[in-house]
Amino acid sequence: MIPASVIEDIRYRCDIESVISTYVTLKRAGSNLKGLCPFHSEKTPSFTVYPGTQSFYCFGCGAGGDVINFVMRTENLDYVAAVETLAKRAGIALPDFDSNSGRPDTVSRSRVLQMNLEAAKYYRKMLFDDNIGAPGRKYFTDRGLSMASIKRFGLGYSPPSGGSMLKHLTSLGFKHEEIRTAYFAGKNERGYYDYFRGRVMFPIIDVSGNVIAFGGRVLDDSKPKYLNTSDTPAFKKSKNMFALNYAKNSDAGYFILCEGYMDVITLHDAGFGMAVATLGTAITSEQARMMKKYTDRVIISYDSDEAGQKAANRAITLLEEAGIDAKVLRMQGAKDPDEYIKKYGADKFRELIEASRGKFEFMLDGIRSKYDMSISDSKIKALSEICAYIAGIQSSVERDIYIDKTAREFSVDLKSIRADVDAKRRRAQYENSKKRKGELIRITSGLSDRVNPDFAKQPKGARIEEAVLGMLFIRSEYFTRKIDGRELAADDFVTTLGKKLFEFAKERHDAGGFSIGMLNESFTSDEVSRVSRMIAERSELSGNDEKSFDIYVKSMRDESTNARDGELSLEDILKKKRGNN
Ligand code: GTP
Ligand code: MN
Repeated sequence: MIPASVIEDIRYRCDIESVISTYVTLKRAGSNLKGLCPFHSEKTPSFTVYPGTQSFYCFGCGAGGDVINFVMRTENLDYVAAVETLAKRAGIALPDFDSNSGRPDTVSRSRVLQMNLEAAKYYRKMLFDDNIGAPGRKYFTDRGLSMASIKRFGLGYSPPSGGSMLKHLTSLGFKHEEIRTAYFAGKNERGYYDYFRGRVMFPIIDVSGNVIAFGGRVLDDSKPKYLNTSDTPAFKKSKNMFALNYAKNSDAGYFILCEGYMDVITLHDAGFGMAVATLGTAITSEQARMMKKYTDRVIISYDSDEAGQKAANRAITLLEEAGIDAKVLRMQGAKDPDEYIKKYGADKFRELIEASRGKFEFMLDGIRSKYDMSISDSKIKALSEICAYIAGIQSSVERDIYIDKTAREFSVDLKSIRADVDAKRRRAQYENSKKRKGELIRITSGLSDRVNPDFAKQPKGARIEEAVLGMLFIRSEYFTRKIDGRELAADDFVTTLGKKLFEFAKERHDAGGFSIGMLNESFTSDEVSRVSRMIAERSELSGNDEKSFDIYVKSMRDESTNARDGELSLEDILKKKRGNN
């Protein structure tokens, strides 16, 4: 079994849009992308990529999954081989899986926190050790960090010679296996070894001031550039953020969201104490809601390269879902905020903050950089893409505002823009209803559902179940949502497949995070495709809010209770009825 944290890393670094783009020509449609399906032959595109959930689904042939499934299918590889291919593409070194398994989960949170605190002190001491710390200090100085910053962020250095942290923690009474659980040691045939060696160390501190994890960066260009603590009993990287402990006290009224630790530290150094970063992964809805506790406005300041801009696009959607007003900062002449500030200074960066754009402006910029507006053919293509984007927006007020903006911006008649948007919406609605009909025929054509044989027995309940699962997979916080006082349980589900899927996903969710790629370990590729369909169908709709979720869960529970009642004898039911009276 490949550790979940590694899969998460790979999925983050291999953006589904860029990977699939190398095989399929994709066109933007709202926040999704469409293209001709590589798995069956078709003339109108029904193959859809969902950047939000990092999944794909073809409404024509039913193939679906995440980036790993895509590579499995196109390259005809098994799961592990596909993971290896993607890891190579992203420059991620795969750990030897066995050495990661069998970690005891009995180590308590407070034990891990104690180790983290001791480790932070130790790394700091090493950084300031005359001999041992010299390379670390030189690295930080070369990167222009002030001593005040180094101290404020509690930065440190892990000695290159192996074993010193192990020795240190052992001397304080921690057992080898505990040390391994806290990710200060790994284990191979030859025994235990220090996990972080010869790296500058960035402690991650939660809002209560606990040191919960570390990131360690190499001093040169070797790989992997960063090693991070994987999930421990005291840490989940999808639920924490770097420098939030400081940013929460800033009175700026907004946060700056960056990609890297170095960006944040440089920003704080330059007076932007409201900068935070995720921990080497795409932003999650949990993190969005964490930020929402402290602020209603976030300015996304990701790397200026294509990957950074795509990630920014995803972040906007996620932040807006959490009720945050999100803007994107446009940076030219530097790859990230750290570099920008060093080149142009804090005042210039402040100007960028003021000039940051909302999501529509951001999308327009993407299109402007792709097309030469002085050539009429390109302009037509560009406008068609803009109209497709607008057509994908659910709110009619929002659509009107953007139609108006587009007309003014490109000096085109407002009526023609509106007509084009309307035509695209009608077309999409027609395609949708055609798709649904096709799907319905497939589902109802007798015993056709080989993937979920229970479907025919209880079609209504199974449909509701699919909606619930789809929403769960899009918004993971629903796993712990209480409906009528209790969280979802396997028994609430209607079909055997539904129960199995829920149990698997729930277990993974509790263990640090679920992503559909993990299904490949226990489910067939047809079953994974079915899950993609559930996600795809829900992604096409706007009703995935708490209220709809609750309604679906309640009716699913009713359906599964009915099903169980159906299995009872008449006598049982009568008994139950009498009991109720
Ligand atoms: P430098 O400026 O090169 O020191 O790094 P950075 O802080 O600008 O980071 P970068 O933009 O390269 O990457 C953003 C974040 O992704 C980093 O802060 C890390 O949290 C994470 N990251 C980068 N490289 C790796 C890697 O090789 N493995 C893992 N697990 N995470 C990484
Ligand atoms: Mn950087």
